[in-house]
Amino acid sequence: MFLSAPAIPILSRCSWMGKGSGFGKVILFGEHFVVHGVAGIVSAIDSTTDAEVKKTGEEILIVDERKGAKGYVGEKKAQQLESIDRMLKAMGIEPKIASFNIWVGGNLPGFSGLGASAASSVAIARAIAEEFGLKLSDERVNEVAYEAEKAYAGTPSGIDNTAATYGGLMWFKRNMSGGSNAIERISIRKPVEIVIASTGIVANTKAMVEGVAERKKKNPEKYNGIFKQAEDVALKAKKALKEFDLKKVGTLMNENHRLLQEIGVSCKELDYLVDLARRRGAFGAKLTGGGGGGCMFALTPTKALQETVAEAIEKAGYEVLRTKIGVEKL
Ligand code: MEV
Repeated sequence: MFLSAPAIPILSRCSWMGKGSGFGKVILFGEHFVVHGVAGIVSAIDSTTDAEVKKTGEEILIVDERKGAKGYVGEKKAQQLESIDRMLKAMGIEPKIASFNIWVGGNLPGFSGLGASAASSVAIARAIAEEFGLKLSDERVNEVAYEAEKAYAGTPSGIDNTAATYGGLMWFKRNMSGGSNAIERISIRKPVEIVIASTGIVANTKAMVEGVAERKKKNPEKYNGIFKQAEDVALKAKKALKEFDLKKVGTLMNENHRLLQEIGVSCKELDYLVDLARRRGAFGAKLTGGGGGGCMFALTPTKALQETVAEAIEKAGYEVLRTKIGVEKL
């Protein structure tokens, strides 16, 4: 049985044992479409979720100190418990006999859309492995985190846990027959400034993913056409990134946002922020992640442009994160 505590750790941090981290991410291209086998592009960001685990003789206790959108930790609690249960099974640890304390924190804000669930799954898997003396390769950590992600996303593509495990900028294509996914690192000339903004709305990725699948089933012709366009956008974006044609990347981001609107995963707050960032000179802007709230990001290559866009969004009353995509060594 699981227990959870909302605030202050009971044990002092220095006495915790196993440790682990997972990267946050932004999906540059292809969220939702990737679930159905369309290619996507993702970049880790320089913020992580960290976890520490200590074996105890008691029930599992979780101390979650992540900061973020109001209510994020509380709303995700049931899914977090299910994810840990799934993770333990995937690691061959019988959940019923598991007894340890888990601390979760780090500088990745709990904003929906930044892969916070995958980052925490990777961090916790690594921390459990260390505490239990299991040697887990990154590949195994990724597999375990994928199992955990099912609690948050239902039928995840695997893109979030892959970015959370390995970091960097990558091309991702889900293998729909259950085999290995296609993952390819993308190198760009230099990291590029972006602004991430949170709508402040905690979104339910699982419900958003299910919604798309239902609408696609009801209207296959329309959806297949949109999915084909999304694949085309991802292919063009990969080329534009490699050529460091950032104007083109921005235009394709705008195109991707339009496709996401068409499949019903944007919302008025996301559209407002996307529009605001574009009006302030962003090369492109789109929602990132599951949508329905959560985050958007704007491509703002140069510190000055990043600041202009970030300040405008802050002035409108939203929280922002100034960071970069394409950082190889995080
Ligand atoms: C969530 O960050 C991305 C989605 O495409 C779900 C997934 O790929 O697992 C909405």
